[in-house]
Amino acid sequence: MERIKEAVMRARAQREKEGAMVPASDAVEPQPAESSGAPSTAPAVPAAPVAPATQDASSPPPAAPDTPAASTSPAAPAAPAQGGGALTAGNIEYRQTKVVHLDPSHLEKNRIISFRKTDERTVSFDRLRTVIMRTMKDNGWRTLAVTSPTASCGKTTVALNLALSIAHQTEQTVLLADFDLRDPNIAEYLGLPESPSLVDYLSDQVSLPEVFVNPGIPRLTLLPNHKAILNSAETMMTSKMHNMVSEIRNRYDTRLVIFDLPPMLTTDDALAFLPQVDCALVVLASGQSTKSQVKETMALLQTTNVVGTVLNKGD
Ligand SMILES: Nc1ncnc2c1ncn2[C@@H]1O[C@H](COP(=O)(O)OP(=O)(O)O)[C@@H](O)[C@H]1O
Ligand SMILES: [Mg+2]
Repeated sequence: MERIKEAVMRARAQREKEGAMVPASDAVEPQPAESSGAPSTAPAVPAAPVAPATQDASSPPPAAPDTPAASTSPAAPAAPAQGGGALTAGNIEYRQTKVVHLDPSHLEKNRIISFRKTDERTVSFDRLRTVIMRTMKDNGWRTLAVTSPTASCGKTTVALNLALSIAHQTEQTVLLADFDLRDPNIAEYLGLPESPSLVDYLSDQVSLPEVFVNPGIPRLTLLPNHKAILNSAETMMTSKMHNMVSEIRNRYDTRLVIFDLPPMLTTDDALAFLPQVDCALVVLASGQSTKSQVKETMALLQTTNVVGTVLNKGD
């Protein structure tokens, strides 16, 4: 807890230095969830049907996660041209950035459903996307962190569906970065093959453009991480990390960036990083996130612009 308090102080000091932004007036405020399991947290969007973790050949396709998500950002190549032939995805040219084609059945198994434009299960994610994009646009915000009180609330699932919904359904380009350094899951959930990733960039093994991946979807770029980083809070605070975030943010000023962050209450990684983003989305898990966890999380987010909360895993 002491580390968390220290991180809060650091975060506050930094935000005050940079001029803290006023929270969005239409941000969705969470209602504390009871630990009894009965979902009492107000979702940012209506809950969607629950998705089974796996399916056999005879079963219907998995339903969407309980609470879907979505948002947008304009397209641009993730990396500058650097030899090799240009690949085209939609109307965007991806040079150097690796293009990896995703397996729909692997995505569905991991409750990633927003890659199908016409799938009605994506509606809740699309609504979430619309609310978040409107708030961000109104405030001139371009970087969004996704966090939660504890692990397994569904941050990565929501962040992925949100990023897909934005890229797939709008003209906005979006970059999704796996910054849950201790528990990176984006590559696994998408079924990305091993390749240089964030950890290799941070240890000076590769350049930033080498770690970007285009998952065969126009307007979406991924910054995956294949290996956990143990000294993650310290890594979050390094100047290399800080400079990278500035570069990601400033290189394409029309791009929306989503950071999949660690949970708020288990380490101070997220707190250490939050001063670098414009706003945050909080994912709560029905029947898992307790009232005191929600209160503690929101207290830690006092100096962060919370654009909404999602009640995930509800009925
Ligand atoms: N709405 C949901 N309904 C059922 N299971 C879900 C839902 N959202 C996520 N899950 C599952 O919960 C587990 C943890 O989700 P994940 O997104 O990895 O959480 P986090 O990133 O917060 O640790 C995964 O197995 C995921 O498929
Ligand atoms: Mg995760």
